[in-house]
Amino acid sequence: MVTAVENVSFEVRAGEKFVLLGPSGCGKSTLLKSVAGFIPPAAGLISLHGERVQRPGPDRVVVFQEFDQLLPWKTVLGNVAYALKVTKRVPAGDLASHALRFVTMVGLEPFKDAYPHTLSGGMKQRVAIARSLALGPEMLLMDEPFASLDALTRTRMQEELNAIWRQTRKTILFVTHSIQEAVILGDRILVMTPGPGRVRSIIDNEAVDTPLDSPEFIAMQHRIRELLELDGQGRGEG
Ligand SMILES: Nc1ncnc2c1ncn2[C@@H]1O[C@H](COP(=O)(O)OP(=O)(O)OP(=O)(O)O)[C@@H](O)[C@H]1O
Ligand SMILES: [Mg+2]
Repeated sequence: MVTAVENVSFEVRAGEKFVLLGPSGCGKSTLLKSVAGFIPPAAGLISLHGERVQRPGPDRVVVFQEFDQLLPWKTVLGNVAYALKVTKRVPAGDLASHALRFVTMVGLEPFKDAYPHTLSGGMKQRVAIARSLALGPEMLLMDEPFASLDALTRTRMQEELNAIWRQTRKTILFVTHSIQEAVILGDRILVMTPGPGRVRSIIDNEAVDTPLDSPEFIAMQHRIRELLELDGQGRGEG
C-alpha cells in the first residue's frame, strides 16, 4: 500500500477558493478524490458541515484534467442538460433553459449546438465547468483542469474561473502544481511537501487575482517557490 498523504489537516471555508499546491506525486489527486468520496481515507476523516463524507454526492462535483469528460454524441447544451436530467435537479420542462444559463455563463452560448469533437480543449473544459455548476454543488473540486491547455488559453481560463467565482461565490477546491496558477486563483494556498505529502504551509494569498506583473504577485510567487524549494526540488515553472 502506498501512503499518498500523511497528517494533512485543513478546513475549506464556504465561498473561498482553496488551492492545494505541491510537486507531482505528493498526493494532491488522492486528497481530492477522498474529498469527492471516490476513495476513503485509510486514516482520518473528511467532513462537510460536520457530516462525514463517505461516498460521492451531488454536493461535490469534480472537474478533471482530461478533455474527454463530455458525452461525444451530445451537443454542448445536451451535455449540460443530460447531467441535469440524470440527477433530476430541475423539472424536465426547464432542462434546456437551465442548461443554457450555465452555458452562457462560461461564454459558450454561440456554440451551444456544437458537438464536443468540434471544440478546442479550453472550450471542452468550459463545458465541463458549466455542467458542474449547473448541478448546483456546494463545492467544485477541480484537479488540474487547465493543465493540458496552452499557456495563453490557460491564463484566460484562470481569469474566467475567477470571474465565474465572483458571480457564483461557489466554494472551490483547486489542485495544481503551478505556482502561478495557485497565486492567480487561491484565496488561500496549501503548500504541500513531496510525497507522502504533508502540510508545509497554508498561506493567505493577498495577491489573488492581481495582475501577473504586480509587485505583490511576484513577491507571493517568490515566497511560495522558496517554500517548495525547501526540499531542493522546486519546479522551474510559473
Ligand atoms: N491507484 C494507485 N495505486 C497505487 N498507488 C497510487 C495510485 N494512485 C496514486 N498512487 C500513488 O500515490 C501517490 C500520490 O499520487 P497522486 O496522484 O495523488 O499525486 P499528485 O500530487 O496528484 O501528482 P500529480 O501532480 O502528478 O498529479 C504517488 O506516490 C502515486 O504513485
Ligand atoms: Mg494529480
